[in-house]
Amino acid sequence: MSVSNLTLNNGVTMPALGLGVFQTPPEETSQAVEAALRVGYRHIDTAAAYGNEREVGAAIARSGLARSDIFIETKIWISDYGYEQTLHGFDKSAAKLGIEQIDLLILHQALPSAFDKTLDAYRALETLLADGKVRAIGVSNFMPEHIEQLLAAAKVVPTVNQIEVHPYFQQRKLQELNKQHDILTQAWSPIGGITFYRGGNKSTLEDPVIVEIARLHGKSAAQVMLAWHLQEGRSVIPKSVKPARIAENFDVFDFTLSAEQIAQIDALDTGMRGGPEPEAITLEAYGRAIPEA
Ligand SMILES: NC(=O)c1ccc[n+]([C@@H]2O[C@H](COP(=O)([O-])OP(=O)(O)OC[C@H]3O[C@@H](n4cnc5c(N)ncnc54)[C@H](OP(=O)(O)O)[C@@H]3O)[C@@H](O)[C@H]2O)c1
Repeated sequence: MSVSNLTLNNGVTMPALGLGVFQTPPEETSQAVEAALRVGYRHIDTAAAYGNEREVGAAIARSGLARSDIFIETKIWISDYGYEQTLHGFDKSAAKLGIEQIDLLILHQALPSAFDKTLDAYRALETLLADGKVRAIGVSNFMPEHIEQLLAAAKVVPTVNQIEVHPYFQQRKLQELNKQHDILTQAWSPIGGITFYRGGNKSTLEDPVIVEIARLHGKSAAQVMLAWHLQEGRSVIPKSVKPARIAENFDVFDFTLSAEQIAQIDALDTGMRGGPEPEAITLEAYGRAIPEA
């Protein structure tokens, strides 16, 4: 397959596959981003809450690539929600990244018990978009009711909803709602990291169905999962700190899964969420200050 770019609902083009850097320690971030840029990644997904925006920016600055060749996505943490706070959240992220304009800025989580604050944060994203400080805006971990509440109040439809999607947790109804509104589903934990890095007992990487499909294509289980997402039209942002795996996760454009293989992976959904329950996200439980630049 050759699809490597997706067009967002506002016409902005985004590489379908990017490098994620959640849990990548700051001291390992620059080398991971450099390794990714060397093998052809042109999209990096970070977040204010990951504490490594500065190191992402440093690697991009050192790469020698034109700024316009790299798509940079980051997220506003819940502690910076509110209209003025979120505008300042942009300033902090842009300064740490060392850039004037962010390609895609998204709200990291809904705050269901303080949805007004979430809406104020989104209004700030709309202002940043109108001012040309960001090229696209979006959300993450928004469940159907959060999307509906947002759309009832917002002027700009989010371009993406970044949510947990891997073979064991596919959120089909939410994906369908995203599609109805022309919101791109971007899969976090696309190779199912959340099924194993917290000590879970059933890893998508060892799933017999996926392993067998991988064997048939002479590819790895991770590559098969990434191809599955891409063929179903999702954006993916696999994370690794290891150069060999970073290269492996990008080497997914030279094979195509059959409709039957896609259906086999679709059938692996367990309906069990790996990440935190979006309704349980509160400032009290998850709030923490994002440092100044
Ligand atoms: N919006 C949100 O709330 C949210 C939540 C979670 C994640 N995310 C984003 O999504 C990105 C990816 O999600 P994720 O980090 O949760 O999970 P993931 O990308 O599905 O999996 C990452 C895990 O898989 C390992 N790995 C990577 N490539 C591999 C390969 N080819 N073979 C075997 N193991 C491999 C990594 O270890 P090594 O590093 O040791 O290779 C790491 O433990 C994050 O980095 C972040 O950008 C967003």
